[in-house]
Amino acid sequence: MARPPIPNNVGIENLPARMVEHLEAWRDSYLDWWKWTNLDLEEPIPLRWAVQRENGDLGFDSGNVKMLEYPWGIWLGPQKSYRHIPYGDHMGEPLWTERQDIPAAYLDDLRRLIVQQGDTEPASVEQQRTLGLTAPSDHDRAGLFQVNVEEGRHLWAMVYLLIRYFGKDGRDESDALLERRSGDPDTGRILGAFNNPIRDWLALFCFTTFTDRDGKYQLRAESESAFEPFACTTDFMLREEAFHMAFGQNGIERVVKRTIELMKTAPHGDVKQVGGIPLDILQKYINEWYSLSLDLFGGPDSNNAERLWGRGLKGRDDESKPGRYEDHKLSSGEYVYEAGTPFEKRGSLRRAMNELLRDEYIKDCAKWLDVWNKQIPDGIPKLYLPDHRFNRSIGMSFYEGRHYGVRGEVFADAASYEKHRRANLPTEADYAYVKGLMKRAAGPNKVAFWLAPPKGKEAEYTYCSK
Ligand SMILES: [Fe+2]
Ligand SMILES: [Fe+2]
Repeated sequence: MARPPIPNNVGIENLPARMVEHLEAWRDSYLDWWKWTNLDLEEPIPLRWAVQRENGDLGFDSGNVKMLEYPWGIWLGPQKSYRHIPYGDHMGEPLWTERQDIPAAYLDDLRRLIVQQGDTEPASVEQQRTLGLTAPSDHDRAGLFQVNVEEGRHLWAMVYLLIRYFGKDGRDESDALLERRSGDPDTGRILGAFNNPIRDWLALFCFTTFTDRDGKYQLRAESESAFEPFACTTDFMLREEAFHMAFGQNGIERVVKRTIELMKTAPHGDVKQVGGIPLDILQKYINEWYSLSLDLFGGPDSNNAERLWGRGLKGRDDESKPGRYEDHKLSSGEYVYEAGTPFEKRGSLRRAMNELLRDEYIKDCAKWLDVWNKQIPDGIPKLYLPDHRFNRSIGMSFYEGRHYGVRGEVFADAASYEKHRRANLPTEADYAYVKGLMKRAAGPNKVAFWLAPPKGKEAEYTYCSK
C-alpha cells in the first residue's frame, strides 16, 4: 500500500528517492513506537497541529483526531533575516545552508547537538505515557496529549535534519532515537532529567514548567546556530513549547488555589485530611524538578560550551537580537561566579556559556513563583525556588566539594547535607500520598478534588469526590 505523503514545507518531494524512503521507513517505526508509548489510541482527542498557510506562514489547525492519525509533519520556520553568522569565530561569514558549508571538523558536534535535542522529545512522551489514565479532567487530558503529539513532532524535525544532512551516521542516530527508553538501566535516554519518572500529575505540572523551560532555552540558543536549517526548525518548536509551559504553570497555579481553598475548612489547616495537596509537598516537587532541570544546562565552566559557541553552533540567548550584546567575538571577557560571596571566582566568559543560559532560565522561572504566590495569603509560607546549586549532579566539581542547601547555605560535611537534601525532596510517603489522589475525573466539566477548575471556567465545573 502506498504510504501517504509526509506533510512538509521542506520540499521532501524533491529529495533523492532513497532519502524519502528513509524518512517514510522511519515514520513506520515511529508509529510503532507511538503504539507502545500511548495507551489511548482509539478515541478522537481535540488537538491542534501545524500547517502552512497560503501566504507561507506557519500556523495551527485543530479538530478531533485519533492520535495515530495525527498529521505529524516537517516544518521549517522562515529564513533568518540576517544572512551572516552573528557571533563566534566565524562571525561575518555567510550562514551555512547546506551540508558542504559546514566545516567538516564541526559535523560531529552539530550532530551530537541535534541528537541530544531530539532525544529529549520521545523521552518526555515515554515519561508521561500512563498519565492519561489518571487525568484530573478531560481538559487536562487533552492538554497532556497535545504536549505529547507536539514533542513527537519535535522529534520529526530533528530526524529530518539527521536524515537529510548527516548520511549514514544520521540514519543510525534516527533509529537509535526510537530505541532508547526513558529510565531503562541499559538503554536509557541521554540526559538525566529525562530518565527520572514523572510519577503523577503534580510531577507533570512541575516537569512542563521547569523541564520544558530548559527546552525553551536550549532551543533559543540553537535558534542562533550558524547552520540555518537547524536554527529554522527551532522557531516553530518554541511556539509549541509556550503551550507546554503554560500547561504546567497553570496546573500549579490551580493546585495552589485549590489547596488554599481547602485549608480554610480543613482541621488545623491540614489539607491532607480533606484530600488536598499540602504546599510543603508541592515545594518538594518544585525542588526536585527545578534542580534536575538546572543540571540539563551542563557544567558552569565548560570546554564543550566554549567550543559550541566559538564554532557558531549554539549562541547566547538572543545573540542575534540587535542591541542585546555589544561584543560577539569575546576574545576577552569574564564571568563572575558566586559573586559577592567568599567563594567568588572569575572565569572566561566563553567557557561560561552554560552558566549564562542557566542565568536566563533562573530569572524566567522566578517569575512563575511570583504568580503562584499571589494565590497564597499573608501568614502562610510562600513557595520559593531553591538555590541553583541545591541537589545538583552535573558540574559540582567546580564548587570544590561544597554542598549548598535550598537557601544557598553551605554545608561543611556531606552527612548533614544529605540529611538536608532528603528533607527537602519528596519522600516515598509524599509520592504515595499524591498517588492516592490521582484518579481519572472524566466527563464534561468534572475536575478532580485536589485541583481547581481550568482558569476562567470555575463556574461551569464541579468537583469529583476525593
Ligand atoms: Fe519539545
Ligand atoms: Fe515541550
